[in-house]
Amino acid sequence: MSVATIEQPITLAQVKADHEINVYLTRSTKYLSRLGFTEHGLRHAGIVSALAYKVLQELAFPTRDCELAAIAGYLHDIANMINRYNHGVSGAIMTFSILTRMGMPPEEVALVISAIGNHEEERGNAVNHVASALILADKSDVHRSRVTNRDFAKFEIHDRVNYAAESSKLLVDKASRKITLAVRIDTTICPVMEYFEIFLLRMVMCRRAAEFLDCQFKLVINDYELL
Ligand SMILES: [Fe+2]
Ligand SMILES: [Fe+2]
Repeated sequence: MSVATIEQPITLAQVKADHEINVYLTRSTKYLSRLGFTEHGLRHAGIVSALAYKVLQELAFPTRDCELAAIAGYLHDIANMINRYNHGVSGAIMTFSILTRMGMPPEEVALVISAIGNHEEERGNAVNHVASALILADKSDVHRSRVTNRDFAKFEIHDRVNYAAESSKLLVDKASRKITLAVRIDTTICPVMEYFEIFLLRMVMCRRAAEFLDCQFKLVINDYELL
């Protein structure tokens, strides 16, 4: 068992190589796809992890804080294998025992698990910089490749919006203190209105997360600035 010291902090690479984490993340993908949800597995974990790191890095936070945001990003949806409902809080509790077992100090565990426990739009809040970075990273992963339903006739609104999204980019500009989510949507598949129908709550959450980081949140869809 690896035990971290101050000189040897737990890294994202160690988290990615951990057998227990791999099993749970793989099961989350498997069980959620049976329920028809969009992809919440290793692909989403990797993208959110890299984006959460980037948000804090671009705003010149210390490298260790960026790494903790990356770890939170990688683990944030791990509890979907237990149940989709309240998976932020159950994921925080799971992550507490995993990172403690790996030897992460409590000061760092606190940042990671508070972020995970606050990433759901129904009950989450930007309580610190790591939580804010995770919210922005998670809510900006909207993409065609996340749709697991293979039958277009059975697409529901989340499938349509994700399928219509050809690209989504999260841009952080430290100088102007602006964080921009730029999405390209094929409007023949999904009108922009449908995007808002399911993403309004997420965009409000992103705005608050950006504000916590002393930034303004902007939403750009097909080159139109909507927020
Ligand atoms: Fe989630
Ligand atoms: Fe997620």
